Amino acid sequence: MQNYQAILKKTLITKEQLQVRIQELAEEINHDYAGSEGLLLVCVLRGAIMFLVDLTKHLTIKHMVDFMAVSSYGVGRRSSSGQARISLDLNTDIRGRDVIVVEDIIDSGQTLHSLLQLLGSRGPKSLEVCVLLDKVERREVNIPVKYRGFVIDNEFVFGYGLDLDEYYRNLNFVGVVDLEKYQGNEG
Ligand code: PRP
Repeated sequence: MQNYQAILKKTLITKEQLQVRIQELAEEINHDYAGSEGLLLVCVLRGAIMFLVDLTKHLTIKHMVDFMAVSSYGVGRRSSSGQARISLDLNTDIRGRDVIVVEDIIDSGQTLHSLLQLLGSRGPKSLEVCVLLDKVERREVNIPVKYRGFVIDNEFVFGYGLDLDEYYRNLNFVGVVDLEKYQGNEG
């Protein structure tokens, strides 16, 4: 497996920029949900784990966390299939709860579109989206995004939860892949 430096075209968002923006988002949520009973953050595995963890560190309001796994890309794929497959569902009954879906990135919007339809059918009190990275120009379906970290161009990004063929999720910054140097999923 190549070292990440060998395939990094450029750093798109630094560790410091991420942390500043995530704290701002958390403060907005603290304000908006100050009176909420039973706020639930739904982390969409696996890409959103880093974002979720750092976001919750700055939340001062009472809240719960649960996880769902939805897959649309798969190893070796470069774009969404447009179909979301739910491979892990919530343990929490969301009826009557304020729910915020926490995602790492929106591309076509198909994954969140499916997810929001499913969660909406379960009768939450409210249902909102908090996304770190938004490739707005790639959108195929409209997604109402209440909390947005960064709008980014249509570049192949990795790090800070986002994988490159399942590797490099641990990086503390968001980078752009140099596709001319990346040799693919050779293990
Ligand atoms: C990514 C991301 C979103 C989805 C966005 O997940 O976390 O769930 O793709 O794409 P869309 O807007 O075009 O639907 P991925 O399938 O790569 O899984 P992962 O989070 O486990 O890496």
